[in-house]
Amino acid sequence: MTAVYASVDDLRRAARDYLPRMVFDFVDGGAEREITLRANLADFEPLRFSPRVLTDVSAVDLGTTLLGEPIALPLAIAPMGLCGLVRPQGELALARAAKAAGIPMVLSTAASHALESVMDAAPGNLWFQLYIFRDREFARSLVQRARAAGYRALVVTVDLTRGGKREKDIHNGFTVPPRFTRRTAMDLLRHPAWLARMAPHRKQTLGNLVDWGGRDKNVVALSTFMNTQIDPGISWADLEWLRGEWDLPLVVKGILHPDDARQALAAGADAIIVSNHGGRQLDGAPSTISALPRIADAVGNATEIILDSGVRRGADILKALALGARACMIGKAALYGLGADGEAGVARVLTILRQEFDVAMALSGNQRAAAVRPDTLLS
Ligand code: FNR
Repeated sequence: MTAVYASVDDLRRAARDYLPRMVFDFVDGGAEREITLRANLADFEPLRFSPRVLTDVSAVDLGTTLLGEPIALPLAIAPMGLCGLVRPQGELALARAAKAAGIPMVLSTAASHALESVMDAAPGNLWFQLYIFRDREFARSLVQRARAAGYRALVVTVDLTRGGKREKDIHNGFTVPPRFTRRTAMDLLRHPAWLARMAPHRKQTLGNLVDWGGRDKNVVALSTFMNTQIDPGISWADLEWLRGEWDLPLVVKGILHPDDARQALAAGADAIIVSNHGGRQLDGAPSTISALPRIADAVGNATEIILDSGVRRGADILKALALGARACMIGKAALYGLGADGEAGVARVLTILRQEFDVAMALSGNQRAAAVRPDTLLS
């Protein structure tokens, strides 16, 4: 029987059944008490639309532009590491689905697949996400590889000066290095479909990092090394440095304060991403939808604001646009699709969000995603 997926939540449930708990929790979990993770979703709920009627919504235009490029929907897929653990195709499947839907995808530094292979699989509107490592020469080499491969924007993530404490991962032994116990073995055995699909792809790696210092290519060795390379000393000067290294659009991901938004622009950023890393980093950080209005007040006229963290519905996208975002990104929602049904599952997630967004636009009386009425929400 083919599963019926009416909502992103349906695909989340299917992914939870398919994936070993250690993988599902890695995708789905947040830091510490998961206060921010929950707030990301909950804070969309009290926002109410102020619908207008008889506005002729026979031809709602869902397209817009982002960083100067036309996109079919004000949405992108956020950068995520280790997607190959969900399905072997990982980021290749995400990129193909994004391309088919006419939206950008951001490829993570910590992706399972190398940035060149992802571009080969889905040539188009791909952006590259960078962590600024202690080894600046290696960071620079990644930037140069991304430029040579045809990536159209560079996203620098600035909210990971330490790894957030994700307690589910600790309990599951999903740590660096991993801790294999009887319980984790049982967990894997209880998910034979996942095991069978992964078996030929046991040799997982971090595709962008394999040439780094001639190290062992396996995912544990590379992740261990990457953790030692997280640089807590990054500062605004590094952003200015990066600006000099990259001549296409530069986007700063992980902004939650209006002053930081202003400073990012002063350092040469072309756009900002209001993000709390999906609640995976600082527990107690504000939800992004609650942080957005002040940031939009500060820089909304000067730049494009992208919002991620907690987007699960087309109506969430419309709420973010009404509060000043140009577009949203999805992280977990895309991986629920990937887990549930591979590339077809990601495509399904994007179709659901597109349809929901279309309905929310029409029923609120909006005709163009690029020009959502500012009074779309009750104030
Ligand atoms: C992430 N995120 C992330 N961000 C980043 O800049 N680089 C990365 O490598 C990762 N890795 C990563 C892995 C997984 C499994 C998840 C779920 C998330 C954060 C991501 O880009 C995005 O900010 C959040 O996922 C957005 O929140 P939602 O949509 O997941 O609620």
